[in-house]
Amino acid sequence: MRIVVTIGGSILIKDHGHEKFKDYAEVLKNLKAKNELFLVVGGGKTAREYIEIARNIGASESFCDDLGIDVTRLNAKLLIMAIGDAAYPSVPLNFAEAMKFSTSGRIIVMGGTEPAHSTDAVGTILAEFVGADILINATSVDGLYDRDPEKFEDATIFREVRPTEMMEILSKKEIKAGTYEFFDLTAIQMIKRSRIKTIIVNGNDPKNLIRVIKGEKIGTIILPE
Ligand code: UTP
Repeated sequence: MRIVVTIGGSILIKDHGHEKFKDYAEVLKNLKAKNELFLVVGGGKTAREYIEIARNIGASESFCDDLGIDVTRLNAKLLIMAIGDAAYPSVPLNFAEAMKFSTSGRIIVMGGTEPAHSTDAVGTILAEFVGADILINATSVDGLYDRDPEKFEDATIFREVRPTEMMEILSKKEIKAGTYEFFDLTAIQMIKRSRIKTIIVNGNDPKNLIRVIKGEKIGTIILPE
């Protein structure tokens, strides 16, 4: 299978720890035996910290986005290092480059591409570009909830959702650098148009990638419409 995985930066780096990089590297090397893998890594807290400093200096939102992209690429480099020889040694700067590097047969790891969206959107565009069989979004919660499960105890998870329903939920959210929360609109529009099978799972356990690929029903499935 050709698989695109987006991993939130806040999953990979917690308090500057390195363990998650190693855990993910093991799982990815394992999956590489039978699959073609493309990873898109987020910026997490480090990106938000840099963006806040730049914004306080007076930078524009798109400058802040660009700074965020730099951080996602730093995180991509760390994951490449953790994977070792099984990963292509450079971070692709765009989709055509990702495709080109993939002819090496190695795991491709990239970060952001251009301002005004999140790495979730990058993952959806990449999935369409390379014709992925599946897109897995590894996030910090078990799936998509009707409200923030970290703030509301009675939040309920959607096991299945359609892109249009997601757009309704997310249209009320803010669009600013560093705050493209949980699947921005670009990402959902891309899923809608490309009809790529997309699954949101808890990325705190990298083995969830293996479970999804085996067909276990975990997380939230975004159904085509
Ligand atoms: P992320 O995708 O990591 O955003 O990109 P996030 O929502 O903070 O994700 P987590 O916390 O890692 O899960 C970090 C920032 O980089 C900019 C945006 O400002 C984004 O909020 N960015 C990233 C872009 O502008 N374009 C991209 O292609 C990627």
